[in-house]
Amino acid sequence: MTAPLVEVEQLQTYFPIRRGLLRRVVGNVQAVDGVSFSIARGKTLGLVGESGCGKTTVGRSILRLVEPTGGRVAFDGLAVRDLRGRDLRNLRRRMQVVFQDPYGSLNPRMTVRALIEEGLIIHGLGSARERVDRVVRAMERTGLSRQALERYPHEFSGGQRQRIAIARALVLEPDFLVLDEPISALDLSIQAQVVNLLIELREQLGLTYLFISHDLSVVEHVSDEVAVMYLGRIVERATAAALYAQPLHPYTLALFSAVPTVDPARRRRRIVLVGDVPSPSNPPRGCRFHPRCPLAESVCREVDPPMVSLPEHAVHCHVAARELARSGGNASVAAATIAALLADRATPPTATLSPG
Ligand SMILES: Nc1ncnc2c1ncn2[C@@H]1O[C@H](COP(=O)(O)OP(=O)(O)OP(=O)(O)O)[C@@H](O)[C@H]1O
Ligand code: SF4
Ligand SMILES: [Mg+2]
Repeated sequence: MTAPLVEVEQLQTYFPIRRGLLRRVVGNVQAVDGVSFSIARGKTLGLVGESGCGKTTVGRSILRLVEPTGGRVAFDGLAVRDLRGRDLRNLRRRMQVVFQDPYGSLNPRMTVRALIEEGLIIHGLGSARERVDRVVRAMERTGLSRQALERYPHEFSGGQRQRIAIARALVLEPDFLVLDEPISALDLSIQAQVVNLLIELREQLGLTYLFISHDLSVVEHVSDEVAVMYLGRIVERATAAALYAQPLHPYTLALFSAVPTVDPARRRRRIVLVGDVPSPSNPPRGCRFHPRCPLAESVCREVDPPMVSLPEHAVHCHVAARELARSGGNASVAAATIAALLADRATPPTATLSPG
């Protein structure tokens, strides 16, 4: 097996909270607190979880758009956090990002040509003529015609603007893209086109993706593996097939139960979680999900659940660990038991859960 392209180990990113005249640090938002995963070359890891759980911060920390507080990030074997100057610039060319908002992320005063060319100029790549060729090639790859070269972003629809943003990333011939909610701001009718384009580009160019989205169906469609985040941590991670067929973590089950589905095998009783997500500046001790978990036991309030690993599946939960042990490691049996327990215990509606 080849080495993963991206490896993240115990990543921590805290944001200081400052107060008073002297802007003294009085605490930290623990946006990401001990996240580990790897992504093989050419594969896609989907990242899901409620708003504010730290998905964007994971993506930005890998790219060093924010400085991580701790942990290790390796890209193609390079220790990302140790790189400086030219080495960091070279690495940044190989790792690009596409944001949610194609309106806010494109400077309205720049033409499409200037927008896509900008990265090539910053990185000192190619002569003026070569740069135009590369710009046109990137536009063609994303389905934009060269007639668009001298036009401005406001002349385009949301879907086409997102194609411009993707071309802007692709022109640098990266290996890895962080796609942070790349379709959430688009009309439903064009979301599928952009998703299909991203899949095609991954296949044609051998790209590797971190795909952040609150749309669980799209994540399943695009991803090889999926990680579920809650309050700065990954609580469950598995191949997309294993996670969607046999979710083991109560939080994952609650997220999935909120998604309408036509597939009777997937239809689950809605699990309504009580209470708000606690503040990431003061996360609960023990299992961070315990204040909202219908299955919480006394151990959950005290002891951080360790990871239990199966070949295609990893989960941090005391009850899941016990059910896996009881079933001899049979995820399907354990998942069915946990789903039944949750259906019994999930409380009547007092708060709703919205993924993303
Ligand atoms: N620059 C920053 N300074 C201070 N706090 C921040 C900063 N960026 C993010 N946070 C906080 O870190 C936590 C995680 O935020 P993040 O944007 O990573 O979440 P997210 O999962 O991407 O949410 P969403 O689904 O809404 O995009 C939140 O509590 C957020 O308020
Ligand atoms: S460890 Fe306990 S509180 Fe946390 S998810 Fe599992 S059952 Fe719920
Ligand atoms: Mg985000």
